Amino acid sequence: MMITKAHWENVYSTKAPEQVGWYEPHLQTSLAFIKRTGVHQEARIIDVGGGASTLVDDLLNARVEHITVLDIAPTALDQARSRLAERAAKVQWIEGDVTDIDLPPGYYDVWHDRAVFHFLTETESRKRYVDHMWRALKAGGHIVIATFAPEAPPKCSGLDVTHYTPEQLHHELGKDLVLHEHRKELHVTPGGVKQMYLYCRFQKPALACYE
Ligand SMILES: C[S@@+](CC[C@H](N)C(=O)[O-])C[C@H]1O[C@@H](n2cnc3c(N)ncnc32)[C@H](O)[C@@H]1O
Repeated sequence: MMITKAHWENVYSTKAPEQVGWYEPHLQTSLAFIKRTGVHQEARIIDVGGGASTLVDDLLNARVEHITVLDIAPTALDQARSRLAERAAKVQWIEGDVTDIDLPPGYYDVWHDRAVFHFLTETESRKRYVDHMWRALKAGGHIVIATFAPEAPPKCSGLDVTHYTPEQLHHELGKDLVLHEHRKELHVTPGGVKQMYLYCRFQKPALACYE
């Protein structure tokens, strides 16, 4: 855990937000997938490992009322808060490790993760992530998640990652989820490296309990 935090803190304190490999000015595919969940503006949306991304800005622009950004790197959260200025007060900010955190049970309508789960290369940490996700999501809640696809490079941000097909991701996150849609999308880093991402939208069954 400490190595992970040190790694991400180092990245965010040595690079500008627009220079990190995963930077996109707007997370258009995430936004489109979140829109297609059909949730309303009162929905509770958590961006897991949101970093300094502008998803929170765009959700605020869409008048989403309950947004949480969780990240292990306080510097990333500081960058997002500075950019948002007084609008930052409308957001709940959590500094923490998604594999080791107490989130309110049955609380969130949407769990968003772009490029976080794929860093969990150990079975045990993936299991903890999945347990936290299932517990924190409402019955009927949605998951919008992006990982590296099989043809992406072996590393992201200098760290090993696990690559997923839709079927493999479905298997990891839980076969009881409903997979509504998936698509691949090529991302080119500011340094010109091509990374194929897989985006998936899942839904927790309406009658599921979180235990
Ligand atoms: C590749 S970046 C993606 C950032 C953002 N989701 C985006 O798409 O722009 C991965 C993010 O996950 C955060 N992170 C990595 N491991 C984490 C963990 N175990 N718990 C919470 N955040 C984590 C990092 O600090 C970083 O902000």
